[in-house]
Amino acid sequence: MNTVRMDAVIRDTALNTPALVLDLENINDTYTRFVEAFPNGQVFYAVKSNANLDIMRLVVARGGGLEIASLAELDAALTAGASGAQIICSNPIKTPRFLQRMQAADVYAVVVDSPWEVEKIAQYAPGMHVYVRLAVDNTGSVLPLAGKFGVSGNEALHLFDQARDLGLVPIGLSFHVGSQCLRVNNWVNAIRACGEIWQAAEARGHQLHFLDLGGGFPAGHYHDTNIPTIEAICEASRDAIYDFIPHHAPMIVLEPGRGLVGESGRLVVSVVGKARRNGDEWLYMDAGVFNGLMETYEGFPPVVYLQADDAEDRPMRQYTLAGPSCDSCDVVARKIELPETHIGDRLVFLDAGAYTNEYAVAFNGFPVPAVVKLEREVAFA
Ligand SMILES: Cc1ncc(COP(=O)(O)O)c(C=O)c1O
Repeated sequence: MNTVRMDAVIRDTALNTPALVLDLENINDTYTRFVEAFPNGQVFYAVKSNANLDIMRLVVARGGGLEIASLAELDAALTAGASGAQIICSNPIKTPRFLQRMQAADVYAVVVDSPWEVEKIAQYAPGMHVYVRLAVDNTGSVLPLAGKFGVSGNEALHLFDQARDLGLVPIGLSFHVGSQCLRVNNWVNAIRACGEIWQAAEARGHQLHFLDLGGGFPAGHYHDTNIPTIEAICEASRDAIYDFIPHHAPMIVLEPGRGLVGESGRLVVSVVGKARRNGDEWLYMDAGVFNGLMETYEGFPPVVYLQADDAEDRPMRQYTLAGPSCDSCDVVARKIELPETHIGDRLVFLDAGAYTNEYAVAFNGFPVPAVVKLEREVAFA
């Protein structure tokens, strides 16, 4: 993170808020960390975390791939210059039109986790490469994804058989340990489980080569050094693949979203109103749950500071932080400690590069944060 330039942009009084300030060089550096920590892995950036075209172009220019979930993301990936071989789809639910378009674009492979999806793919994208999403333990992740997607080992074997019978090409396995996963062992245990299914699949005559370790890589190392690093997760995963996966999986995919872009962004908002209700002090901001801070509604704790030259001299107060809309669910944090804050002051949310603008809508007419990119010093290729 180029903190000097980031601070200059955040302090600039001409900056209109809400603004999402993105540091592409930080993403470039983080991409390098992934590549160095997993030399035999391939990064397929999870576009859903931030579909900004410059980010996608950067990943493609670096030789990485894109993981997409929808037709709009396919179009964006192609616009960013990705070839079909540089695209995979790990969304277990796909529309017929999306499947047809992915096949026409030569997308490398798509995920399955239900027999209905296998039938649908066989009908609308015959012969396609498919990988099966395994349900794995999401304990220890801040935003668990378990329950909605994934199958057991036995079901995975049946899906491999069904896919082969219907003319598809089963190529391997994927999983997701949950977003912002704080337990390295989740990856190790998931890889061990994949190893058992992989062996059983080979015994049934399947030839697998693809192992997708999903996302889950956490962000936030600037303010919490206990968060596991990319390097620690990759090292443990490489060891686990060596120990448990037959032939050590020729194609290993990493699908970071938050872990690649989360720390690159800061969301700058203004305080536009204050109130005292039942003894609580409320600060109303020009961004909230609908326009940039949706993850706080899902339980993700925001990390926020007051941007003011005299912040250290102000007395500490406890606040409820709310967005500007008329919806009562538009509350971002309760009982948060901040220096005394006035209308017109700026607050800055850290780790805002992922899952901020992607969720944002102009509900009640309050605008989606404008993206401001830090000036670029290097070419990403
Ligand atoms: C299939 C899939 N892959 C990757 C990701 C990216 O996850 P993260 O942002 O935790 O890295 C997600 C996020 O929901 C996902 O659903």
